[in-house]
Amino acid sequence: MKTEFGLVSTLIAFALLASGAPVSGQEIQPIKLLNPRTTGGMPLMQALKERRSSRAFSPKELPLPVLSDLLWAANGMNRPESGGRTAPSVMNMQEIDIYVAKSDGVYLFDAEENVLLPVSGEDIRGLTGRQAFVKEVPVNLIYVADFSKIRKISGSEVDFYTAADAGFIGQNVYLYCASAGLVTVVRGAIDKPALATAMKLRDDQKILLAQSVGYPGGTANRPLEP
Ligand SMILES: Cc1cc2nc3c(=O)[nH]c(=O)nc-3n(C[C@H](O)[C@H](O)[C@H](O)COP(=O)(O)O)c2cc1C
Repeated sequence: MKTEFGLVSTLIAFALLASGAPVSGQEIQPIKLLNPRTTGGMPLMQALKERRSSRAFSPKELPLPVLSDLLWAANGMNRPESGGRTAPSVMNMQEIDIYVAKSDGVYLFDAEENVLLPVSGEDIRGLTGRQAFVKEVPVNLIYVADFSKIRKISGSEVDFYTAADAGFIGQNVYLYCASAGLVTVVRGAIDKPALATAMKLRDDQKILLAQSVGYPGGTANRPLEP
């Protein structure tokens, strides 16, 4: 299911690239993701046994096949005929967008096209959380609710359902990381206004959570709660 916003943002990103205009900071290009490897991996019960938060990351980058599998597991399209995703969403609104903050910039995951669209050529990893390690982690996912996709619910229901939907994505990431030998921690301790500004979000987009992903390494860091 391609939403109007998804289509428009895709067109704008490609139009900017076609015009040669940098989106922000250094010029970054779309990253075409690979088809997910949907066989193999760890048995589910073993992945559940391994699931945990870790804050000890290596700065080593994630290779493209791993980044591709990670994003597909997070909220990729698993039923192309219907547009279904690996994570459920209230009334299938698919209102949670995943932004990917890497060392070379920020991208938006387009699940239908299986591509990372450039958002900004700036390294904003340090703004994705209040903990020092986040600026060294190769990938920080940022879960953003797009209120322009919300319909039929209102008030506190919107907060409840968008938070729930982001939580499902986060757990998908936890299980993928357990299976793939990666470490991860979902994080709510974020200076959200500062991050929203750096990401140039619209007023009808709301940051919910971030999640750091990388290879194990480095030193252990302390938990921090929002
Ligand atoms: C909604 C939510 C927000 C969290 N925020 C943070 C955070 O900002 N920083 C952090 O280090 N851990 C954060 N955590 C991770 C928890 O500290 C962690 O899940 C908890 O200690 C249990 O550990 P486990 O995940 O290994 O079972 C958060 C977890 C959740 C579910």
